[in-house]
Amino acid sequence: MKRSLFITAALAAIITCTSCGNDTVGKSVNSSSGPASTTEAAAETTAAGTTANETTAEAATEEQTESVQENTQHPISADAPAEGDPDYAPKPQQYDIEGLKYIDGTLIANKTYSLPSDFNPGLDPLCESQFYKLSEAAAAEGLSIYLSSGFRSYDYQAQIYSNYVEWNGQEQADTFSARPGHSEHQSGLAIDVNQIDDTFIGTPEAIWLEEHCHEFGFILRYPRGKQDITGYKYESWHIRYVGTDLAYIIHETGLTLEEYFGIDSEYQ
Ligand code: DAL
Ligand code: ZN
Repeated sequence: MKRSLFITAALAAIITCTSCGNDTVGKSVNSSSGPASTTEAAAETTAAGTTANETTAEAATEEQTESVQENTQHPISADAPAEGDPDYAPKPQQYDIEGLKYIDGTLIANKTYSLPSDFNPGLDPLCESQFYKLSEAAAAEGLSIYLSSGFRSYDYQAQIYSNYVEWNGQEQADTFSARPGHSEHQSGLAIDVNQIDDTFIGTPEAIWLEEHCHEFGFILRYPRGKQDITGYKYESWHIRYVGTDLAYIIHETGLTLEEYFGIDSEYQ
């Protein structure tokens, strides 16, 4: 069902690349909107006995397969830096471990696709170095964007999630905290910045992050108004590293990763 949405949105945004002859994705308006609703995530780090400034250690269906094939036509944003450009950020490394779900080279971790409990890569070096470039660029404009929560192991996520279930009940917890094995933080490719709660919304840093994180290869992973698709409430502070090719497309089309790849995010 998300496939048709993906196709409609993607096709609407496709333009012809005169230089390469491939389809490319052009600019379109991000239509996601609506009020943010979660505040609970503020307790995410303290729940597990860490601080907000902690900087470290923390059967595809046929329909899905069709969407993946459509995406392997390699749409490239007309504005994305090309390979060789200093601002180009490649896709993160692929981990040679079984049980990981990749689509077109992008590692997927959501409610449908989990990570093995022994998958323990730490924060991806490319993700980390690109984040520090992002942070420096923000600092050059007088803004402070810092890493609050990066890599989180399976066991650590289990501890966080279990605390939330105890405090809020499982139904509520599932709207803002991933079950162990399902958190992008375990992939080493996600970073929470600054204040991990809704007080971050609307700050100059949050606005800058939403406008510029794609330039460094990141996407705002859980946008406003997309809870039914991503499975999570709006998280203005959670960014996911995907490389600039995909980040530009996601930014320009306003699609989520689920919509772009035509996949679900639902616990089985
Ligand atoms: N807060 C996000 C969904 C996580 O727990 O990974
Ligand atoms: Zn997060």
